[in-house]
Amino acid sequence: MPPPSSPQCDPALEKRVKRHVIGRTREFFAVTAPGLEPLCLKELSEPPLSFQTGRAVTGGVAFSGRIRDAYLANLHLRTATRILMRIDTVHATRFDQLEKGVNEIPWELYLPPSAPVSIRAATSRCRLYHKEAIAERVRRSIAERFATRGLGTYSPRSADIPQTVFVRGTSDRFLFSLDSSGDPLYKRSVKTEVGKAPLRETLAAAVLMWAGYTGDKPLDQPLIDPLCGSGTFSLEASLMAARIPPGHFRNFAFMDWPAFRPKRWVHIKNEAEKVIRRPPIRPIFASDRDQNLCRALEKATVKHGLHHWITVSNRDFFDFSPRDLTRRTGWVTLNPPYGRRLSDPEEKNRLLAAIIDRLHREYRGWTVVLLVPGRNPGRLLKFPVTTRTLIHGGLTLNLLIGTVP
Ligand SMILES: C[S@@+](CC[C@H](N)C(=O)[O-])C[C@H]1O[C@@H](n2cnc3c(N)ncnc32)[C@H](O)[C@@H]1O
Repeated sequence: MPPPSSPQCDPALEKRVKRHVIGRTREFFAVTAPGLEPLCLKELSEPPLSFQTGRAVTGGVAFSGRIRDAYLANLHLRTATRILMRIDTVHATRFDQLEKGVNEIPWELYLPPSAPVSIRAATSRCRLYHKEAIAERVRRSIAERFATRGLGTYSPRSADIPQTVFVRGTSDRFLFSLDSSGDPLYKRSVKTEVGKAPLRETLAAAVLMWAGYTGDKPLDQPLIDPLCGSGTFSLEASLMAARIPPGHFRNFAFMDWPAFRPKRWVHIKNEAEKVIRRPPIRPIFASDRDQNLCRALEKATVKHGLHHWITVSNRDFFDFSPRDLTRRTGWVTLNPPYGRRLSDPEEKNRLLAAIIDRLHREYRGWTVVLLVPGRNPGRLLKFPVTTRTLIHGGLTLNLLIGTVP
């Protein structure tokens, strides 16, 4: 039985949800890590999404569409961190104005009545600037709206965050957005275990895209991930090659919204599943000297059917050549141990020099995709590379891409 306050049991509310949330074009924002905005815009404008309303700005891509488009964006975007749905704006210079404005927003159309809701506030150039106080007032005002309208119990806070309202104040104008994703989208629910310095899936996907990996012809162009750790590059490459949407294995916050229609979602998922493919041989090779990480990765690939794409082996990078794996050339992705994990900087430099030496000797014709910290690491490579600076886990990393002559 659905709860008494659910839209299914309240025809009037159901009608309002249909009219104001489902049946209307709305504004959305795909949040990205810095530098990933153009890639995210490209993803939005190309199949399977093909949205033509996107506009890249600092921190993400704004787009408009129906609520279904936000579901699709959550399912398909490989480089976005979360998808926000814009709700409303309130002009306030005092807390009573803020509270009144928030109370007038029809939250019952957006939030499930009994969900724990977390508020995340940020301000710039506002007379109200205390983030915690703003969050507290917003939380209270939403709760009050639910309570006074008999819409069910609103639980104001929880340790895990199934629903999150983002409040962004700029020059006394507060913009309210609802997070449709829940867990950040780099959580694909594929890995069973992570190593000590895993890459974010969104960054790994972006790196592959920058390197020209599309997964379109995976058999012609294999991928070797010889320091795979938890296997982020291999897993992302396999999802791309298999045409599995990055959100295929997980759930989203919007699935609890009053506007969510499970049958439509099943249809969206079924449509996406129609193009998923399986190769005759495995074109992705992941390996690491850490046995436990290899075991965990193997387990994750089997669990998600990605073992048709990825061969996992527990071996040292210096003990094999690409010729042992494939007769073709493709991409070799490397994210060597760095920074805080290696206390001795000399050790780090020696390892990097040895890796680069091996790439020069053994990987002729392969496109090297190397992610390393430090100043001007491109000088270590004796072939032309394109370089890009990225921030990851508070560390500045250089992405070097070039083909070994
Ligand atoms: C920074 S981590 C890679 C993280 C990985 N990209 C991920 O997303 O989980 C570096 C990895 O290199 C592996 N490694 C270091 N030296 C190696 C070697 N000689 N052969 C194979 N793996 C090595 C470590 O075990 C570690 O898992």
